[in-house]
Amino acid sequence: MSSASSNPPVEAVRSSVAGLERSHGCGHLRAANVGQRVTVMGWVHNRRDHGGCVFIDLRDRHGLVQVVFEPDASADAHALAGELRSEFCLGVEGVVRSRGAMVNPKLATGEVEIEAKQLVIFSRADTPPFLIEDEIDTNEQTRLKHRYLDLRRPALQRNLIVRSQLYQITRRFLSDQGFLEIETPFMVKYTPGGARNFLVPSRLNPGRFYALAESPQIFKQLFMVAGLDRYFQVVRCFRDEDLRLDRQPEFTQIDVEMSFVSEVDVQRVISGLMRELWQGILGVDIGDIPRLQYAEAMRRFGSDKPDLRFGLELSELSDVVRQHGGGIAPMQTALEKKGVVKALRLPAAEAQKLSRAELDKLEELVKGMGAQGLARAKVAEGGAWTQTPLKSLPDELRGAINAACGAQPGDLLFFQFAPAKLANTVLGGLRLHLGNKLGLIAAGQWKFLWVTDFPLFEQTDDGWAAAHHPFTSPDPDDLAHLESDRGRVRARAYDLVLNGNEIAGGSIRIHQREVQAQVFAALGLSDEEARSKFGFLLDAFRYGPPPHGGIACGVDRLAMLLCGAESLRDVIAFPKTQKGTDLMTDAPNEVSKRQLDELHVQLREP
Ligand code: AMO
Repeated sequence: MSSASSNPPVEAVRSSVAGLERSHGCGHLRAANVGQRVTVMGWVHNRRDHGGCVFIDLRDRHGLVQVVFEPDASADAHALAGELRSEFCLGVEGVVRSRGAMVNPKLATGEVEIEAKQLVIFSRADTPPFLIEDEIDTNEQTRLKHRYLDLRRPALQRNLIVRSQLYQITRRFLSDQGFLEIETPFMVKYTPGGARNFLVPSRLNPGRFYALAESPQIFKQLFMVAGLDRYFQVVRCFRDEDLRLDRQPEFTQIDVEMSFVSEVDVQRVISGLMRELWQGILGVDIGDIPRLQYAEAMRRFGSDKPDLRFGLELSELSDVVRQHGGGIAPMQTALEKKGVVKALRLPAAEAQKLSRAELDKLEELVKGMGAQGLARAKVAEGGAWTQTPLKSLPDELRGAINAACGAQPGDLLFFQFAPAKLANTVLGGLRLHLGNKLGLIAAGQWKFLWVTDFPLFEQTDDGWAAAHHPFTSPDPDDLAHLESDRGRVRARAYDLVLNGNEIAGGSIRIHQREVQAQVFAALGLSDEEARSKFGFLLDAFRYGPPPHGGIACGVDRLAMLLCGAESLRDVIAFPKTQKGTDLMTDAPNEVSKRQLDELHVQLREP
């Protein structure tokens, strides 16, 4: 990591306490400091007694340095050093000297040590519940309960340093591009329909609630109506969703909105920001970011956030099968129900790495994703299929499928005959599983991708819903289908994907009242409902709204990827668990009857 691990200048630590003048961070000292009198402050990382001398490694956020207490150098300091234990907090004044032949190549300060002249113990520590080191296997629950100790570990400190750099670079970059940083309210009006909101009862307005903002979406659009032109905010958002490794109930966005723009303008700014972040934090040039339409992403990868670090593209075989009379029964059934026939080809070199038992396990895996099963075939010399339930497939169709998939002898083909959404989920999921399992993802790759032209609507159990939000502009070419064929209408919406993670999403918004009315109607929203939900926005749009669009980047996901972390919890100082709890403070907690009364809230007996 280039600048992320670089220390701030030595001057940045200067301060004084208890008669000591802090001169250096522990990790600052080098051979060039030999002979200097220095004062460092920090925590006892470990302590060793060697033949009358006490050695400690002293740790602060700048690193570790060895300190030696010898009776000859200072009898007082040496005597007091006998009391030191792990995590005591201290200040040490002394002289830097060379470690000669005893250099520790693992430490940045390994060429030197401090010969202690004065020791002040600021505070003593109980024995910590786990070692303050990176390579520990303490369970996460214990670490989260004592997060202040967990955060002493260098790896987590590095992650928070990266996060801080991310903010600095973002603010500088966007300000330089003419963006204004403006805050929006967290306590907002509740509007059903979007993400599930956290509610806050209003003491002053009995029976009424605020919602915690799931995003500043409407407010940032109002900034555009107000003529502020280019807005950004590093903003906390709140969503009461089911949590996963890449989801937290409160998370941070880099939220952006711009007037007088098209898709490419918004994308250009965000691509530029990503280049600055990767260059500034990792010293990596990410180059230009390619674009892929949603429909093509789904067709080739079965996912709207494809991981492009490896191949294994899917083949859409529905037309081929149709041209050959519909194939065998399960294929025909799928096609009759407007489903698809799709396949994933695993090249021979990879296929041979999988045993029969492992192949059979894949079937269990895809059933977990909702699949009925996983028909497969092994391609033999001459294109025949073996080890397959699809023996009755006519030769001609088999040949055509081989050709469409580019199948070679030794390859394995995995099939789905199913509704398109399910087939894509299953084969897309299988593709990711195989990519990981077979080690096809080489380390150190940064595969950014703009996915564009998302569908405007999605079908839910309750009918049609906005795929992104109801202010996203339809593609003008598809306006004619707003009523007749909703599933076909494309949105002027785009996501930014990195290594298979959705790291940002946005769209060009609707700014014409008639179009907004058409979209509300297509969503089954009456004028009255639309007014009660978004009346203020519709009112604002009566006063000359500019064409506008924007995007929001997920800061936690960006930080997770920049740090090489596996969970958002590793890049958030005080994260919530999978159940939305904070193990350290014990939130959420019960409140008194009096407090509830004051808020006009009555609890139902559990
Ligand atoms: P969207 O809902 O797509 O768009 O969110 C934008 C980005 O925020 C991140 N994200 C999350 N990160 C952590 N935990 C979560 N629970 C979570 N939910 C979302 C993702 C996502 O890409 N107002 C629109 C943006 C716009 O149209 O301008 C919005 O919020 O990285």
